[in-house]
Amino acid sequence: MTEPLKIGKHVVRYPLIQGGMGVRISAGRLAGHVAKCGGVGLVAAAGIALNSGLYNGKNFFQAEAEAFKAELRKAYEIAPDGVIGVNVMVALSDFEPLVKAAIEGGAKVIVCGAGLPMGLPELTASHPDVALVPIVSSLRAAQLIARKWRKSYQRLPDAVVVEDPDTAGGHLGEKMENIGTGEYDQYATVREIKEFFRDEYGVAVPVIAAGGVWDRADFEHALAEGADGVQMASRFVCTVECDASDEFKQRYIECAKEDIGLIMSPAGLPGRAILNNQEKIRQYDLDKHTPCRMGCLKKCSYKESGERFCIVTALDRAQRGDVETGLVFCGTNAWKADRITTVQAIFDELFGSATEK
Ligand SMILES: Cc1cc2nc3c(=O)[nH]c(=O)nc-3n(C[C@H](O)[C@H](O)[C@H](O)COP(=O)(O)O)c2cc1C
Repeated sequence: MTEPLKIGKHVVRYPLIQGGMGVRISAGRLAGHVAKCGGVGLVAAAGIALNSGLYNGKNFFQAEAEAFKAELRKAYEIAPDGVIGVNVMVALSDFEPLVKAAIEGGAKVIVCGAGLPMGLPELTASHPDVALVPIVSSLRAAQLIARKWRKSYQRLPDAVVVEDPDTAGGHLGEKMENIGTGEYDQYATVREIKEFFRDEYGVAVPVIAAGGVWDRADFEHALAEGADGVQMASRFVCTVECDASDEFKQRYIECAKEDIGLIMSPAGLPGRAILNNQEKIRQYDLDKHTPCRMGCLKKCSYKESGERFCIVTALDRAQRGDVETGLVFCGTNAWKADRITTVQAIFDELFGSATEK
């Protein structure tokens, strides 16, 4: 019998968070359906305006906040009582307004990665019931956040996601040269972080494992190794409900294990993606002579010096179906996708067939 997961004031029937996937891979539809099935559904903030109809080429930041709230509304239409939250990357230029928009849109959980969300409790102080969940890859990062939050805001994270750089999709919180060396131990990190909260503060903070969880055996393994739940992203791409184009989903179905690898993002972080088209991604920007138009990231080598490629538009192209010149982020397990399924079928497989319809 799978135990429910409590994150702050919010309880979900199954200990599963659907990982935030930026640039409208996880928007309102996917998040709503995951929440309806009894998990935490996350709308990801990054680049959500681009394929929303709200961006007119000039109003990026305003459209981001509006599109973000519109997708939260969509998710709540699907699952009015569901636990619906957001993923906001700390590296985004508009991190603070997006956190504000998330609160206005009724997000119950705010998950933050790609940087340490040191000031997050201050931004959400007027809504103490909103659960705050940092994503980290090391004990040290969890300690830095917890000590700062306790000292400055008298609160601790409501849960911590431990993301495994060796398997997770998208941007990774580890140096390129340290990934895939076999030295990183995801579940040792999970246990160290649990112990840290117990020893230092006497509390049981739920620790969630992210990266490489695909099927029921992976889920059970994560719990047996000490995690309180899992965050899964790549597995939800090939669902009817995922907000990406059919072509994006098809790339997952067609890709081979060897096609998945690491790229250096202009954000200065490594990222995991399907790797057959890197030159075309760069060539697209060269051909179009497009300088950075949106300034979506605080730090970006494309914005600063035209180096590499514009990541948000590359991800957006793929989301819309141009997988020739677009960037397809994915975790190491994406090659396992062999058909389009439904969110409900994934829940049935993971937790038995007695899940909510
Ligand atoms: C297409 C894609 C986009 C992602 N976008 C984001 C994002 O915007 N913010 C974030 O914190 N993590 C992002 N991630 C990471 C996931 O939320 C998740 O933690 C990770 O992929 C888990 O590993 P899995 O894909 O093996 O389940 C993304 C992952 C994928 C596959």
